[in-house]
Amino acid sequence: MHSFGYRANALLTFGLTILALMCAMASISDNLNHPSPTAQVQVLNINWFQKQPNGNDEASMTLNISADLQSLFTWNTKQVFVFLAAEYETTKNSWNQISLWDGIIPSKEHAKFWIHTSNKYRFIDQGTNLRGKEFNLTLHWHVMPKTGKMFANKLIMSGYRLPEEYR
Ligand SMILES: *[C@@H]1O[C@H](CO)[C@@H](O)[C@H](O)[C@H]1NC(C)=O
Ligand SMILES: *[C@@H]1O[C@H](CO)[C@@H](O)[C@H](O)[C@H]1NC(C)=O
Repeated sequence: MHSFGYRANALLTFGLTILALMCAMASISDNLNHPSPTAQVQVLNINWFQKQPNGNDEASMTLNISADLQSLFTWNTKQVFVFLAAEYETTKNSWNQISLWDGIIPSKEHAKFWIHTSNKYRFIDQGTNLRGKEFNLTLHWHVMPKTGKMFANKLIMSGYRLPEEYR
């Protein structure tokens, strides 16, 4: 006859093995999912565009951000963090990145959306480099799984340009 302690221990080991297997399967099935998110961003308006007293250029824009990130969600997805960044080159830095908007998507039902908003974070350049500046708007996402590794990716939208003159 096995003692109670022995049986409890065997049950615990069995439980942990199943749990480990489920975690491994969750990660594997996540890797088998090939998400294909889509996004579009329209700059609806340049609200104002000025040189600040300290000499830095700042722009305020109204954006229409639309995205379908539903394919990022599997049963193993806890939530998705997204942010929209303006990315551009200047003579000082070959790569500048400024986050304009971000959000947390809690579920697949909320992953297809459009939002009409002005930039949530300030679009300020360290200098006077924004007049006529071409920039990309890149939607970045970080997928936080219930178990397994976090992963990130992005969608680059190019062809945006700031006005030649302050307004
Ligand atoms: C924003 O974009 C969505 C999808 O492209 C469109 O349906 C909606 O009418 C747009 N909203 C504005 C205010 O332009
Ligand atoms: C903007 O996007 C284009 C095309 O995807 C890319 O070649 C370029 O390097 C990007 N610029 C910046 C500053 O990230």
